[in-house]
Amino acid sequence: MPRKIPAPPRNPFEIGLLARDAHFADREKEVDRIVRALREPGSRLVVFGDRRLGKSSALDRAAALARKAGYRVAVASFATATGPADAAQQLLNAVRQEIGKQWRETVERIAERLQATMELRPGSAPGSPPTVRFGFGMREGGDERPRLLWEVLDAVNAQLEGQNITLGIAIDEFQRIHEWGGEDAEWALKAAMETHRSLTYVLAGSKRHLIEAMLTSKGRALWKQVDHLHFGPISGDVLAEWITSRAARTGLKIPLTVADRVVSLAYPRTRDVVQLARVVWDASVQTGTAEEGAAEAALDRLVREQGALYDSLWRTLQTVDQRILRALAAEPGLPITRAETMSRFRLGAKSTVSSALSRLVEREVIARSEAGSYTFDDPFFRRWVELNALADLGLPPPRSPT
Ligand SMILES: Nc1ncnc2c1ncn2[C@@H]1O[C@H](COP(=O)(O)OP(=O)(O)O)[C@@H](O)[C@H]1O
Ligand SMILES: [Mg+2]
Repeated sequence: MPRKIPAPPRNPFEIGLLARDAHFADREKEVDRIVRALREPGSRLVVFGDRRLGKSSALDRAAALARKAGYRVAVASFATATGPADAAQQLLNAVRQEIGKQWRETVERIAERLQATMELRPGSAPGSPPTVRFGFGMREGGDERPRLLWEVLDAVNAQLEGQNITLGIAIDEFQRIHEWGGEDAEWALKAAMETHRSLTYVLAGSKRHLIEAMLTSKGRALWKQVDHLHFGPISGDVLAEWITSRAARTGLKIPLTVADRVVSLAYPRTRDVVQLARVVWDASVQTGTAEEGAAEAALDRLVREQGALYDSLWRTLQTVDQRILRALAAEPGLPITRAETMSRFRLGAKSTVSSALSRLVEREVIARSEAGSYTFDDPFFRRWVELNALADLGLPPPRSPT
């Protein structure tokens, strides 16, 4: 018999999937808070924070824990929905998955209430339940379109109330309702949350400024109506220790000093830190130890690998946008709209610079801090600009990332 060769260890740092089980670090407080909301009848919680911090993963983990404790939770995401009909479809499928064995009858009744058609298609894997496509006829377009989502939630609530079932509804990227229905949609959401006695709501979203405005502006529908959970970064020390111990389990030594560098080069978004740790692991697995300088080398490797992407992003930007980004890459934290900055970096008129800044924030290329300074949304794009575009200013790119 040939000896079984042990499988080589797999890279423990994963991106692009929801972080689950051992892939999930920290966040006890946030997860606890969401679980509490999902268990409490009538609660309404809004979770908001920047992209890539791990909101969807925390929501997924909280839903799993609440289910373990015997609560039902339907999780829908509006991230990719192109309009209310897609969102309604997502919601109904999430509800169907959660209802379990009696789903067919429940969902048929909900569809009847909505006068919607239902088309069943076999599940993709053997034994998996069929997928259901709902048709809403004329209501998918025209004036009635914005109401569809609320009609669906009303129907779900009415049906579950009749069956004495309570259900947690978690909606990820919920703020997209604003794109489809403006402030009217916020009022409709408020009305839904107030009247649905069989549903509890947890709403999560990434457009921090948009959501903050929804929650804290007097006169807006959700003002004083919901609990908030501001989702911030994981502490850098916690992340560094997690990187070291995750690597150690695969037999690879990433010393804390190197892990600290990984964190500080990619901070504050969890995904970026994990992504950089992933490259460090790959580059060091042969020797078994990540040497001093491994984080810096990994950063430049990652930026090279993603170069084509950044190159095409750069080419979609207007000249003034590019000049602003060069200035921010050269001198992070620099006060962009100060006269001296604008003249030194040849940014042009203040009004042009202001509208460029708004455009870059809207496109999520840069983020504005509470204090009013601007930073790159993506630390790897910042390094790309530093490496590729500073020469145009007559500045040498720094040899080692800072
Ligand atoms: N708690 C966590 N522990 C480890 N990695 C995480 C955690 N949260 C997020 N990540 C990493 O970040 C990536 C993006 O997370 P996600 O939950 O989609 O963020 P968000 O919803 O805030 O944009 C995940 O694929 C994973 O690599
Ligand atoms: Mg998300």
